[in-house]
Amino acid sequence: MDYSWIQIAVAAVFLSVVITLVLSRGYGWLSPTFWRNAAVVSSLIMLFILMWLTFDTTEKVRPGASQVPTWTVINHEIGLVWNEEKRRQVPVIGEQTGFFGKVYSPEEAFALVNKGKMTLQSRNCMECHQILGNGAYYAPDLTRAWLDPWWEERVMPMVGATTHEEAMKTWLMNPEKYPQGQRRMPNLHFTDEEATALVAFLKWMSAIDTNGFPPRFGVAQ
Ligand code: HEC
Repeated sequence: MDYSWIQIAVAAVFLSVVITLVLSRGYGWLSPTFWRNAAVVSSLIMLFILMWLTFDTTEKVRPGASQVPTWTVINHEIGLVWNEEKRRQVPVIGEQTGFFGKVYSPEEAFALVNKGKMTLQSRNCMECHQILGNGAYYAPDLTRAWLDPWWEERVMPMVGATTHEEAMKTWLMNPEKYPQGQRRMPNLHFTDEEATALVAFLKWMSAIDTNGFPPRFGVAQ
C-alpha cells in the first residue's frame, strides 16, 4: 500500500489526539495526567511508524524490488523516460543486448557489480562525485552517468569503441587523455577487470528508480 507522507502525518496526529482523549477521560487539558498520556501515546505511535517505514524502505531498496533492479539488468538496454503520472523521470529496462558481448548469469552479474562497488569504494570516488545523493560536488553526479549521451555521441568515436560499455571503460582507464570539461579526473590506475566491473556498477545504478533524483537529468546541464 502506498500512502503519502502527509496522509501518514495527519493519521499520526489524529490517532495521538483520539487515543490521548480516550485515556484521559475525566482529566482536564491542564492536568499533568493528560500531557503525560499525550507524550506516551504520541511517542509510541511515532515509534511504530518509524519501525514500519524502516521495514517498508528495506523491502523497497532490495535488488529485485519495485525500485531497484536485479544485477542482470546489466545485460539490458536502459533508458530514462518522463512519467506523467509520477511527475518524474523513471528508468525503463529494454531488450537484452548483453554486456561486453556476453550475457551474464545472475551469479556472474552479482559478482561483477559487487566488484565494481568494491573498486568504487577503494578509490573513494565520492571524494569528488555524488553517488545516489552522497558525496562531493567537485565532479559530475554518477547516479545516472551510464545514461549520459556523451558516451555514444562523443566518447565512442573519440576512443574508437564500438559499444557504449567499451567507450566508458576506455575513458575510465584514461580520463586524463580525453577530458570533457574544465576539471580533469586523475588516472586511478584501474586494472582491466576493475574497469569492467566499474562500468557494470554504474550501469546497474543508472537503472535504480531514485524517485526522480537527480532532477532534470539530461534536461539541464
Ligand atoms: C579527484 C577527483 C575524482 C575522483 C576521486 C574520481 N573522479 Fe571521476 N571525474 C572527476 C572529474 C573532475 C570529472 C570530469 C572530467 C572531465 O570533464 O573531463 C570526472 C568524470 C567522471 C565520469 C564521467 C561522467 C560523465 O557523465 O560525463 C565518470 C563515469 C567518472 N568520473 C567515474 C569515476 C569513478 C567510477 C571514480 C572512482 C573509481 C571516480 N570517477 C573518481 C574527478 C574525480
